[in-house]
Amino acid sequence: MKIAIPRERREFEKRVAASPDTVKKFVALGATVVVEAGAGATSSFSDQDFKDAGAEIAADAAAALKDADVVLKIQRPMTKEEGNDELALLKPGAVLLAQLGALQNKDQAAAFAAANVTAIAMELVPRISRAQSMDVLSSQSNLAGYKAVLDAAAEYGRAMPMMMTAAGTIAPAKAFIMGVGVAGLQAIATARRLGAIVSATDVRAATKEQVESLGAKFVMVETEETGEDAGGYAKEMSEDYKKRQAELVFEHIKKQDIVITTALIPGRAAPILITDEMLAVMKPGSVIVDLAVEMGGNVTQSKPGEIVVTDNGVIIIGHHNVPSRLASDASALFAKNLLNFLTPMIDKETGALALNWEDEIIKGSALTRDGKVIHPLLTEGGN
Ligand code: NAI
Repeated sequence: MKIAIPRERREFEKRVAASPDTVKKFVALGATVVVEAGAGATSSFSDQDFKDAGAEIAADAAAALKDADVVLKIQRPMTKEEGNDELALLKPGAVLLAQLGALQNKDQAAAFAAANVTAIAMELVPRISRAQSMDVLSSQSNLAGYKAVLDAAAEYGRAMPMMMTAAGTIAPAKAFIMGVGVAGLQAIATARRLGAIVSATDVRAATKEQVESLGAKFVMVETEETGEDAGGYAKEMSEDYKKRQAELVFEHIKKQDIVITTALIPGRAAPILITDEMLAVMKPGSVIVDLAVEMGGNVTQSKPGEIVVTDNGVIIIGHHNVPSRLASDASALFAKNLLNFLTPMIDKETGALALNWEDEIIKGSALTRDGKVIHPLLTEGGN
């Protein structure tokens, strides 16, 4: 079995879908691993590191992907319309694993089917306990939550911890984390470690205990309404709830120095949590990091890829692809997620890959099979 790892070609992408560690493990399982030259350069993995781990280095993407049975990527392949038809380089019958953005790019599933590529969308791997080690959303969000706090600290014109010096005392920064999923919890922990006084909010009541166990204060609307769907994700709240949440946040946010927003609702645009009115009452020099900026944003004035300063001096950071800002660790964890996904399906005797189509992990994540789109969220009736 040949596994190929091409260099990522999309803008702002520095990660790579293999690490020397995972290459070594795939080789031990009997696979031939081919890495495109320079694929790891922006993640601090050299071609030599991959070679030492047992990989072959291919001169370009075409050579790497030729005859590959399995293709590991971070992001979905580029299309002809985008100027670089990566999909055309895959052989019919190849299995592609990546974060495919399947629900945002529904049309591409048909292209995978037409190319007879079995496409596995890693973001759709069900969040059951057996699949935790394959969960790319968690591994990447965790790093994004950490980096968001560091990005905020870098723009913040003051210190974060309390400092008592001969010249006077510096008050600790107040940090407010909005949305306490994987990224938010890591943001709380990071802000606490840097010495901030941390508070957090979420629509899911279950997060209260998690927030408090990390030593932060929980800020939430008192309500009977549940903010959680059957899958443990947030759901869209009622108009009354949104109004009360906005009032609560309006009062709280006036006193904050650093705000990290992470709120997402699966399959929808990110909810607006910080309005123009709230921005107007925030302190000059306070910093917001909008981690949801690429999904529409939690802040009215955030812009993807920009650092915006409002009229009253609030700094709003909207970096693209935050996990990629920690490319080496993000790649290593993503690569490990892929290894954990594939290992149980590699035959120990023959080294061949046999997808178990009865497994709920495959059922939940495979978009295509034998030239057809099969995922229930993409086929008719599932929309
Ligand atoms: P996410 O990235 O979908 O959303 C981030 C956070 O924003 C969530 O906590 C959500 O409740 C919150 N949010 C949404 N709308 C909001 C609003 N209007 N105001 C305030 N907060 C809002 O979440 P993530 O990180 O993917 O986690 C979602 C759930 O999945 C959690 O229950 C988490 O514990 C669970 N999970 C389970 C895993 C497993 O069992 N394998 C792995 C990772 C997460």
